[in-house]
Amino acid sequence: MNSIDYARENKQKHLDELIDWLRIPSISTDMAYKPEVQKAADWLVDSMKTAGLENIQLIESPFDLHPLVYADWLHAGEDKPTVLIYGHFDVQPPDPLELWDSPPFEPEVRDNNLYARGSSDDKGQTFIHVKAVEALLRTEGKLPVNVKFICEGEEESGGRTLSDFLPKNKELLKADVALVSDTGILSADQPSITYGLRGIYYDYIDVTGPSIDLHSGMFGGGIDNPLNVLGHIIAGLKDLDGNVLIPGFYDDVRELSAEERALLAQLPFDEAGWLAHTGASRVWGESDYTLVERLGARPTLDVHGIIGGYTGEGGKTVLPSTVHCKVSMRLVPDQDPEKIKKQFRDHVLSMAPDTVTIKFGDDTHGSIPSITDYSIPPMKAAKKAYTAGFGKEPVFMREGGSIPVVAEFQEHLGLETVLMGFGLPTDALHSPNENFHLPNFYRGIETSIHFLTEYGKA
Ligand code: BES
Ligand code: MN
Ligand code: MN
Repeated sequence: MNSIDYARENKQKHLDELIDWLRIPSISTDMAYKPEVQKAADWLVDSMKTAGLENIQLIESPFDLHPLVYADWLHAGEDKPTVLIYGHFDVQPPDPLELWDSPPFEPEVRDNNLYARGSSDDKGQTFIHVKAVEALLRTEGKLPVNVKFICEGEEESGGRTLSDFLPKNKELLKADVALVSDTGILSADQPSITYGLRGIYYDYIDVTGPSIDLHSGMFGGGIDNPLNVLGHIIAGLKDLDGNVLIPGFYDDVRELSAEERALLAQLPFDEAGWLAHTGASRVWGESDYTLVERLGARPTLDVHGIIGGYTGEGGKTVLPSTVHCKVSMRLVPDQDPEKIKKQFRDHVLSMAPDTVTIKFGDDTHGSIPSITDYSIPPMKAAKKAYTAGFGKEPVFMREGGSIPVVAEFQEHLGLETVLMGFGLPTDALHSPNENFHLPNFYRGIETSIHFLTEYGKA
């Protein structure tokens, strides 16, 4: 039996195993779930053993956050390249729970999709490579390339453990290319390779006015209201056409070349289907750019949450003392999160009247945007692999999400990353009813096998 046959014969077993992993609520953003993230790491260690990987290590976080998992198989020979595979086993919180059709940590298959938090982002996609390695080792007794895995439990919380580990373990992680499955493809019958990711800068704003909540009849008109001020600040961050109003925000944005715009214009992007999935009435944004450009190659700013004032039943006439807001900016090359942080904060402070005090977040995080040259040899291997796995040549695209480790691999290990995604725009990442399209899971395992095989020939 060859490795592809092995993957095909063991579909049900692989699905059952993934379901087992998805039952663990490894929510990294909430420290109450720390033991669960640990369990998800232990589970991965066991499954790597089963797959035949070696030197498996569970690496505790020096910051008392979440552990890393390392494993390798290095017997392909000195002349063969080494692939460093990355994935994350932490997940986003499942809220709002009432909007799930089945509980987020009780995985369920419906219409060929596996519904569970983490099914697509990123346990399902990480598991693909563990199973590809298992298929190759069980049937051929060896891998066509040397393989190292480094997996983390802090991707969704912008954690520090991996960022600290990378520069200190350059030799351990030395490789020729990084392979990351934590993105998507255009559609189930049109595979694509992502060569660009946006970065992000995330911040919190606390606006405080009076030291206690006040009766709005007795104090309204005489004491400024922090919630009104916050509304004013938010309105000054971005206009109704989608232009960010922070001075200097666009200074370092690398403009798209005519060539790249032409390439992106050719993408078979299903705009109607994409819109229908959102339930919004129409697409929106900067009018000088196409939708595909706006989503992958233009920066933006969004408010994610506002806490303030009375939100219970009925009316309550109150001036709140303190209100809070969460906001992030998606960044593109060559914007720098540190520089954006300063510009953002200066702009917010410049809009705030002296009736309030402003406090920003303490542990704000950023991720540097990245672009990979798509003519390098492992990209060619990835192209062949998708063609074999999906029966169709992949197209190249940029995506709007952020994966902090990609720029860190570039910076600390000098590694380019092949983003071999298997998600779909309808996977509902971070939303209720997150799901992984099962044909993509199975094709993903085959595509990974093809990639390791093709890259071994290069
Ligand atoms: N897998 C996503 C990133 C992603 C999603 C990239 C879809 C491309 C397409 C990742 O787990 C994620 O959610 N990242 C966060 C980054 C953060 C918390 C620093 C994001 O993009 O919001
Ligand atoms: Mn992810
Ligand atoms: Mn995510």
